[in-house]
Amino acid sequence: MTVDDVSEIAAVLATGGICPIQLSCVGAFYTLFGPIAKDEWHEGYLIQYASRIKEAVDVPIMAVGGIRDLKMMEDVVASGKGDLISLCRPFIREPELINRWLWGNTSPSQCDSWDGCLRATERREKVRCTVTTRAGGRQKKRA
Ligand SMILES: Cc1cc2nc3c(=O)[nH]c(=O)nc-3n(C[C@H](O)[C@H](O)[C@H](O)COP(=O)(O)O)c2cc1C
Ligand code: SF4
Repeated sequence: MTVDDVSEIAAVLATGGICPIQLSCVGAFYTLFGPIAKDEWHEGYLIQYASRIKEAVDVPIMAVGGIRDLKMMEDVVASGKGDLISLCRPFIREPELINRWLWGNTSPSQCDSWDGCLRATERREKVRCTVTTRAGGRQKKRA
């Protein structure tokens, strides 16, 4: 799939009333074009695509993918690259993340983005952060 393909699909979805559209991928390390090497991973790795697809549709676009820093989130929205920010793994790692930020500790999400949670689901375990919990749900000592 190319960005043009995705733009076309997004336009059809928007015409059909889908709103907003989130440009997610099934694997956390996958772009719209396929897997990316770990050494090519960078914070906000899908934002560049979100901004391009946004040009093709009138509905709000949610940017997602390795976004960990609050300032980056604010910049994406302020610059119009995305209308909304979506997070997945940061909430698996820290379900209270938004409250932490609201309470004034605005350091980035602690999620290491190494996909232990995804691997756990592939082993048919419950969704869990493998950094902070052991199999069975017990809390690990935080690093
Ligand atoms: C455990 C897990 C399950 C996921 N399941 C789906 C899914 O079913 N469909 C999908 O499009 N993306 C899925 N994703 C990808 C997320 O929606 C998201 O695009 C990806 O994790 C990148 O965002 P993040 O860096 O905020 O985690 C999943 C991710 C994780 C970690
Ligand atoms: S297992 Fe890793 S990628 Fe998943 S939530 Fe925990 S720290 Fe993030």
